[in-house]
Amino acid sequence: MKPQVLLTRKIPSSVLARLEAACDVDPRYAGAAMSRDDLLARVPGKQALLAMITDSVDQAVIEAGRDLKVIANVAVGYNNVDVAAARARGILVTNTPDVLTGATADFTLALILAITRRLGEGERIVRRREWPGWAFDQLLGMELRGRQLGIVGFGRIGRAVAARAEAFGMRVAHTGRDVEAMPLDRLLSTSDVVSLHVPLTPDTRHLMDQAAFARMKRTAYLVNTSRGPVVDEAALVWALKNHLIAGAALDVYEREPDIHPELFGVENVVLAPHLGSATTETRTGMADLAVRNVLAVLSGAPPLTPVP
Ligand code: DGY
Repeated sequence: MKPQVLLTRKIPSSVLARLEAACDVDPRYAGAAMSRDDLLARVPGKQALLAMITDSVDQAVIEAGRDLKVIANVAVGYNNVDVAAARARGILVTNTPDVLTGATADFTLALILAITRRLGEGERIVRRREWPGWAFDQLLGMELRGRQLGIVGFGRIGRAVAARAEAFGMRVAHTGRDVEAMPLDRLLSTSDVVSLHVPLTPDTRHLMDQAAFARMKRTAYLVNTSRGPVVDEAALVWALKNHLIAGAALDVYEREPDIHPELFGVENVVLAPHLGSATTETRTGMADLAVRNVLAVLSGAPPLTPVP
């Protein structure tokens, strides 16, 4: 009998075909997101779970999935999985590092450019059919050349963002443990753009709170492509309203898909719907790596990319 795999969302058919060649996949065609009730009802008897970041794979799901050998999260972040509970039951947890580094770094640069060059504001004016035509002093933005980019979290994605920013002439400062790292307080008070690339952990939850925003330059921008709860959204609204920062570009939110209602009315904010890794190539690569992790574990081999 083939091993039983639970898939919570549709993945590219070429990747699904490889999984189906070796396993019985439930459901054969996963269209919309799987509800929590469905997840709890379908996980018993499965040896593998392919989960998305929108699935909360908590203690209850792990207890219901008593036959699970592997939870393959289709994401580099795995804050949606109770890794300790999984480990306690001998279940391996894997993620998808590397394959999404380039796409996420590209998108971070897109957000940096969008907020500093006021692209959202301009697009809204055009769409409202309110553009009066070219004007010498219209929507003037900030150039990146010579500006300091402060990268909070200097892992794979942070480093890839740094390489791209340097091509735009930015100076890069970063937090971390290496000799060149800058303490967070100094990075916040000296950077023209602050970009967040930390995983969500108890230590990084609300890393950007009122005190952190108060340290930033009044001319500086915040960019977040990491995880929403790293930023206290209410504190961000407070900082924007009090002109403590020049603007923010967000791809992730504290309670996705909900967004703090006051952010919708703020002009100097770019709001993207969690698109960091959203290219066809990268999402296919993520699904492919997750499937390879599942197939490796189910065949008795070590996983390719277990979470640390
Ligand atoms: C990740 O991989 O953690 C991303 O947020 C999913 O797009």
